[in-house]
Amino acid sequence: MIRVTRKIEFSAAHFYHNPNLSVEENRRIFGKCSNLHGHGHNYTVEVTVAGEADPATGMVLNLKELKEILEREICDRMDHRHLNYEVPELAGQIPTCENLAAVIWRLVEPKISQGRLDRVRVYESPEIFAECTLEPNGNAPHSAGSGAKAESR
Ligand code: NI
Repeated sequence: MIRVTRKIEFSAAHFYHNPNLSVEENRRIFGKCSNLHGHGHNYTVEVTVAGEADPATGMVLNLKELKEILEREICDRMDHRHLNYEVPELAGQIPTCENLAAVIWRLVEPKISQGRLDRVRVYESPEIFAECTLEPNGNAPHSAGSGAKAESR
């Protein structure tokens, strides 16, 4: 099997807040990230597709096509947006790297026509990333974001 990875970047704002917790608890758990005015990140997303190279093209999938999918599904939705307010797929979830990786998986996975989505990695900074991979049984990862019923504000 061969894995091929495409990287894409976008910038967005967010904050962390669980409406089921008190102001103090939110501050204790999320620290500066709980400031309701939000703050920005330059995100890097790596999307990995696994498969065999097509003998006719030498490629697992057409990387130009993958780039277009990532621009449409990720950048068009999230670039220069406020992730708490403007991305319906994140509604009700705290927009952490973890939840973002799961949402991006669900957006991109159905669009991959050759090979199989293998990994989605979301970097919030060069030091921090979360990744979503197939379950050990080969199933798609399930929702990471059903825990907090954040109000849609
Ligand atoms: Ni942040």
